[in-house]
Amino acid sequence: MKQVIVSGMRPTGKLHLGHYLGVIKNWVELQDKYECYFFAADWHALTTKYDKTEELRQNTLDVVMDWLACGINPEKSVIYVQSLVPEIAELNVYLGMITPQNWVERDPTLKDMAKILKTKEGQGQQINYGLMGYPVLMSADILMMNSDLVPVGSDQVAHIEITRDIARRFNNIYGEFFHEAKPLLNNCALICGLDGNKMGKSFKNDIKISDTEEETAKKIMTAITDRSRLRKDDLGHPDECEVAYKYWQIFGNENEISTVKCECEKGLRGCAQCKRELGAKINSVLAPIREKRKYYEQNQQEVEEIIRDGSLRARQKAQEVLSQVRKLIKMY
Ligand code: TRP
Ligand code: SF4
Repeated sequence: MKQVIVSGMRPTGKLHLGHYLGVIKNWVELQDKYECYFFAADWHALTTKYDKTEELRQNTLDVVMDWLACGINPEKSVIYVQSLVPEIAELNVYLGMITPQNWVERDPTLKDMAKILKTKEGQGQQINYGLMGYPVLMSADILMMNSDLVPVGSDQVAHIEITRDIARRFNNIYGEFFHEAKPLLNNCALICGLDGNKMGKSFKNDIKISDTEEETAKKIMTAITDRSRLRKDDLGHPDECEVAYKYWQIFGNENEISTVKCECEKGLRGCAQCKRELGAKINSVLAPIREKRKYYEQNQQEVEEIIRDGSLRARQKAQEVLSQVRKLIKMY
């Protein structure tokens, strides 16, 4: 019996290279070893964007198309949309009953989200009941598949702790049933943004999986380099080249990296030329992914089918778990 993995993303738009290198590449590898469930957390998106739903559907399709393009395989993994598995909402109700209020109130990730909402950027939004329930709903996602491992970034670990606490409490009250899921840490800081800060869509420093080659090349030209270098024959310091050289280390092969380093140090390579070559390199690495994405963009019907089919499969598993849960709680 394979161990079960569940992970989700809020569908907030097209994914960038940080998502690809830090999260999805890892998921792709997990597919062969585990029974994997990957879903778009559209209810979680509603916890803060309940009044901005115009793009929710397209965002969900975009996220799934990015996954498929990167190699998430619907024949190996179950790909679904959270709201198409209503069993999760029922489990959420049961878990809510056994979760003490102070467990959610002290959740640090939630506290951070609440802080941001209250600022200008969050337009002074109130915190609603649904947002307070974020960690419980996330527990329902995870326990719905009775999963063993949850690949997440370090910012989500507190949520997994609550999930484990809730599972333990359920098992104590109603009888041993849920596994205590463990976090499997993603390497989120693998690639920085073009400006050297954390890569993020809201910082406008990202390269999207779905960007064109022209867009990518243009963006790369804005990447930070060795700031002490003014002319192209100044001797460069790759280790102080904050972004461009780091990207070379991620995308180049050994040969290319040592050529760049050597020519930079000797003043034989200008930064503009270096970044033109880097852009071409990144484009060539992403070419097969982008080709696949284009295929799905032109065949969205197929994407919809993958989602419908995956959601049905997720529901089958969810219904098995839920019938056990109802029995244990002694529901009618
Ligand atoms: N909260 C996660 C995030 O913002 C998304 C998420 C929702 C999730 N439910 C999940 C991740 C269940 C893993 C498992 O990234
Ligand atoms: Fe960075 Fe390349 Fe410029 Fe050297 S030549 S500082 S590696 S961009």
